[in-house]
Amino acid sequence: MSTGMNINIAHPPDLLKKLSRAEIDHRIIEAEEKLSDSLLILGHHYQRDEVFKYADATGDSFALAKIAAKTSAEFIVFCGVHFMAETADIITLTGQKVFLPNIEAGCSLADMADIKKVEEAWQEISANTGDRNIPITYINSNVELKAFCGRNGGIVCTSSNARSALEWAWRKGDRVLFFPDQHLGRNTAYKMGIPLKRMVMWNPEQPHGGNLPEKISRSKIVLWNGYCDVHQHFSKEYVDYLREKYPDINIIAHPECNFEVAQSADYMGSTEYIIKKVRESARGTKWGIGTEKHLVNRLQKQFPEKEIYFLQDYGPECETMSSIRQIHLLFQLENLVECNMINQVSVEDKIKKYALIAINRMLDL
Ligand code: 13P
Ligand code: SF4
Repeated sequence: MSTGMNINIAHPPDLLKKLSRAEIDHRIIEAEEKLSDSLLILGHHYQRDEVFKYADATGDSFALAKIAAKTSAEFIVFCGVHFMAETADIITLTGQKVFLPNIEAGCSLADMADIKKVEEAWQEISANTGDRNIPITYINSNVELKAFCGRNGGIVCTSSNARSALEWAWRKGDRVLFFPDQHLGRNTAYKMGIPLKRMVMWNPEQPHGGNLPEKISRSKIVLWNGYCDVHQHFSKEYVDYLREKYPDINIIAHPECNFEVAQSADYMGSTEYIIKKVRESARGTKWGIGTEKHLVNRLQKQFPEKEIYFLQDYGPECETMSSIRQIHLLFQLENLVECNMINQVSVEDKIKKYALIAINRMLDL
């Protein structure tokens, strides 16, 4: 779990667990009405429908960050994961408060790079190459890594602007250190024309990250060895199987998928991009979608006139995204009505200052 402070952690009591869906629904609506304009509920596309339906705004991580930056609501209830709530806290004003209805909702990918190991890698790469290196952190990361990028001339990116972030970085420097998601870095850089032989992967547990120093000197990008396990459920074999079964199928993959899947897909992009492509496609078109199950299930329900398949014979689930249930939202809102600021995500000012620099660079792209 990331290092933003979690204040007043609280879980729904058993009493609430006994309520029927209809009672929960009624009480959520009542609490929303009481909180009125002081409340903004944000919902990521991977949320369960039982929570997603209450969101005032939905989107991918970039869209939600932009909405958080613009809102004047005093309370932002983030139905997503911890790094998203932290980012919202960084870009909102003093006086606005961000809440994560289930504070346990982390991101295993974000946990794969920590500041100590990244600093060690950075020092070694900088000392050995003598070049201008630029750090880029995927938004799915610990807030200290965002601050590291702010302090060291780097930037934050999301899956929808990784290309622009890389262009920005290579205009300023020779090489990028990209963390924590190797797949987003590799898939995006390759699409931009960087050959695999100019990419190296950094394993923090091995000397020189597991590379020969000359190879690092020749590289354009050093990829941290993190990955999202949800997106590793998809395989090229299954893409081939779908293509054989439905020769006119369109394959669309999130850039957190592995290189072979991304290479065999027709389209690659963020959750918002995936939704847009499917929405804008003609009736009767077929889609194989490589991303989390709640989003794919929702698309299947929303577009029954299109044939939508998972990129596996089951839909992989992001368990932490799914850990926010309707009851968590109810408990959060009713506490806010009572002025109990439970489950607040708050980033320390000294980290916030530098993280904001790197986030603002992204917002300015
Ligand atoms: P998006 O930015 O595409 O919404 O992705 C966030 C995420 O966590 C994907 O696993
Ligand atoms: Fe993190 Fe993967 Fe879940 Fe996205 S799907 S929030 S990257 S664990």
